[in-house]
Parts: sequence; structure tokens; C-alpha cells
Amino acid sequence: MNKIKKAIIPVAGLGTRFLPLSKVLPKELFPLVDKPVLQYIIEEAIASGVEQIIFVTKPEKKEILNYFQRYFKKSPELTEILKKRQKHEILKELNQTEKISEKISLSQVFQKQALGDGHALLQAKEKIQGEPIAALWGDDVVESKTPCLLQLIKVFQEYQKPVLALCRIPKERLPYYGVVRVEKIKDRTYKIKQIVEKPSIEQAPSDLAIVGKYILTPEVFEYLSKGKPGKGEEIYLSENLQKMIEDGKEILGCEFEGKWLECGNKLSWLNSHLYLTLKDSRFGPKLKKELKKYL
Ligand code: UTP
Repeated sequence: MNKIKKAIIPVAGLGTRFLPLSKVLPKELFPLVDKPVLQYIIEEAIASGVEQIIFVTKPEKKEILNYFQRYFKKSPELTEILKKRQKHEILKELNQTEKISEKISLSQVFQKQALGDGHALLQAKEKIQGEPIAALWGDDVVESKTPCLLQLIKVFQEYQKPVLALCRIPKERLPYYGVVRVEKIKDRTYKIKQIVEKPSIEQAPSDLAIVGKYILTPEVFEYLSKGKPGKGEEIYLSENLQKMIEDGKEILGCEFEGKWLECGNKLSWLNSHLYLTLKDSRFGPKLKKELKKYL
């Protein structure tokens, strides 16, 4: 039960907060500096020891399929053109991206209708064969020294229980997230006593919000399988984790060390994009000068 070799990345959501742009470009492929958001998440998984990634996508999301089928594949024609044009730097970047496919096996399953994040995970059940796995949302990036997922894996290795990534956020943002009531086990590790989805500021049980990165055990999938759709037609992971807590199961939280770069809505994505671009040595110094003109 120790190694986490597989990660599920669900990317079949509607992305309504990015409409109308998300009608033609899935939010998971928006750029952060000059790479798609999804690539940061794949790199995090690789750096955390994951060997196999299963995307949950849907047939209409052609751009995701293209990304999946073409982005990491070798492109001899482009390589030839870049060589002829002596564009060595660009060629180097291209090669680095193509090398990712040597480090990891990528596969996909489909979620035909967007019936919730828990429903999306269930579509990959056959592929995980009763192993504990990582689940990483396609729009949550964390900048950290130790990859965020690896921090969760370390907690899992010690306790062998499901682990959620937690981040402290300002009070006024709590009503937009899943927020947890916790009992501290040790530094940055908590037992989760309750999950409250989108609480009012007054009802929020703490300032710890759930970030879209998890270690899930086979038992979580049993709950998802029997879980009837929640409030609407959908099956949500957090509702099922809350049911597990009510049944006396232990769920843990890891308050990771690092900066949460949210990319799930327009303002947070713009913020994350600007933050990383300003920090990038290739663009930051020049961009700062340009920005001074406008501020
Ligand atoms: P979100 O909660 O951000 O939902 O999903 P969403 O539908 O993508 O976006 P909004 O709320 O309408 O703006 C978190 C992750 O789960 C995936 C999303 O693609 C995202 O990576 N997801 C969500 C699915 O794969 N299927 C679903 O039915 C719902």
C-alpha cells in the first residue's frame, strides 16, 4: 500500500466559469507563462514518482485529445524546420516536452456527461485495480520546493489513509471552497472531522480550504460507486468523503508547504499567470518595466 504509481486527472468538466472562451479552449490547456496548466500538473506527478497518468476526458473535448495525442509525441517535421532555421532554443524546449512521454505512461477514459468530479473519477475505476492512487484536478497548480503531491504521499505512507491537500485562505474567500473542521495530529497533518462545502464566513469551521489534490484509497471508490448523485444529478468527491467521515472512517489533511496557484476562474488564472510570468527570468524583468508604464 506504500507506493503511489497512478494518478487520475479529470479534465471533463464544463469549465462554465471560463465561458465563452472554454467553449473552444478547455481551461486545463490555458497557458501559465508558456506551458499549459495541465503540464504543470503532469510534471508534479512525475516529480512525485507517479508512473502512469489516466486522464478522464470527454469525446467532444477534441483539444484535450489533441494535447494528449500530439503534444508529447515526437514531431520530426517541426524538428527539421527548426534545425534548418537554426532555432536551437525552441528546438530544445520542444525536445524537453517530447521527453515527458518517455517518463510516464499516459492513457485516457471518457466521461460522457459532466456529472461531477466523483463521477469522473469513477470512470477510471477499472484502470486502478484496487490500488491507492493520486487524484489531481486539472486546474490547481502548486508552486513548492517539494512537489505538493509528494508531500501528500509522505503523509499517506505514514498513515495509510486518504489524504487531502489543504491551504489556509483569507476569510472572505471561504464561501467559494470546501472547508474543513480538523483535529491536529502533528505539524501540518490533521484528522478531518467535517467537510463543509461553500460555507458562509460565519459557518466556516476553519480557514483551511481543500485544494484539488488527493490520495484516495480503494474504499473511497466503493463509496463513490454506491454513492447516489448528490443535490443535483452529480456525484461529488467531497460529499462522499464527508459520508466516510460520518461512518467513522479516517480521512487526513496535509497543509502543504507552497503557494497555491488557482486556475479555476478568470481572475485566479490571470493572477497565477501574471505571478509566474513576473518570476520567470526570461520575461519577468522586461515585463515589470512594461507594467510600470500602465500602473
Ligand atoms: P471544477 O470543480 O473546476 O468544475 O472541476 P468544472 O466543471 O471544470 O468548472 P466550472 O465549475 O463549471 O467552472 C475540477 C476538476 O474536475 C474536472 C474538471 O475538468 C476539473 O479538472 N471535472 C469536473 C470532470 O472531469 N468532470 C466533471 O463532471 C466535473
